[in-house]
Amino acid sequence: MKIAIIGCGNMGMAFAKSFVQYDLVKQNNLLLIEKSADRSATLRLEKAGVVVDTISARVGEMDLIILSVKPQDFNGVHESLRAVIQPNQVVLSIMAGIPIAQIQKKLNHSLVIRAMPNTPAMLGMGITGFTAAKEVDLASLRRVENLINATGRSIFLEDESMLDAVTALSGSGPAYFYYVVKAMIDAGKQMGFDDAVSALLVKQTMLGAYHLINTADKSLDELINAVASKGGTTEAALREFETGALSATLVAGIKAAQVRSTELSKG
Ligand SMILES: NC(=O)c1ccc[n+]([C@@H]2O[C@H](COP(=O)([O-])OP(=O)(O)OC[C@H]3O[C@@H](n4cnc5c(N)ncnc54)[C@H](OP(=O)(O)O)[C@@H]3O)[C@@H](O)[C@H]2O)c1
Repeated sequence: MKIAIIGCGNMGMAFAKSFVQYDLVKQNNLLLIEKSADRSATLRLEKAGVVVDTISARVGEMDLIILSVKPQDFNGVHESLRAVIQPNQVVLSIMAGIPIAQIQKKLNHSLVIRAMPNTPAMLGMGITGFTAAKEVDLASLRRVENLINATGRSIFLEDESMLDAVTALSGSGPAYFYYVVKAMIDAGKQMGFDDAVSALLVKQTMLGAYHLINTADKSLDELINAVASKGGTTEAALREFETGALSATLVAGIKAAQVRSTELSKG
């Protein structure tokens, strides 16, 4: 399989490295198109693929073209891509907020798959929601699914509008997690620990608790109750969270992200 990746920043490179790691593509069949000179120099050092700085006719020789520039940079890409793209090529866009119909129109090309990954893809621990134009056949979809799964796990969505919910939940999700971790580390510091000790206490707690979610035969409520004994310390914290409507605020924040994603999709 031959793949071109247009825009090799954080996400583009997470994809490239995972494909190479799992031997899904040979390095000389991976065309990395990157505008930034600094970034290109790093990519050349890493030898992840063949690095170029502009879209050329060579892109038309690939089986798959991955669009991983920032959404606002798609305008600087679509005309040159439209000039070289071939009818049988599949386009995979991971750009947030640009609907399939818009990509099809700007590229004058029907075979478009749209995905929303998240940053743990850099470690092969991502989760990606994806959907496809009706013109994409099942074999092409499976091939792309296999590639996405090299970056973690994936979920296929029939309804493209649900990608806004994926964006809000798992696309932005790592930031919510860091936000909670940061608040806990701040609490530790306010109680007298230095940065490093507080960070160690919190990070190891989150890691261990995450594994208990997946291995203990208990619901989340049961796991909470196993820590929060009646009249105890955890209960005091949880009562304060409820007074501040923390849970409802988190839900409202995630829904606000979904609304924003929908707004961006409409341009
Ligand atoms: N980061 C996330 O959590 C996340 C999650 C899901 C989806 N996404 C989507 O993934 C895409 C990439 O995000 P990212 O975080 O990887 O961004 P990024 O690190 O900024 O990477 C984008 C790269 O594309 C380059 N570029 C811009 N215009 C180009 C062109 N015409 N030709 C070739 N390269 C070009 C940029 O160079 P310059 O810096 O010089 O402009 C930059 O190195 C975005 O559309 C985003 O919506 C991101």
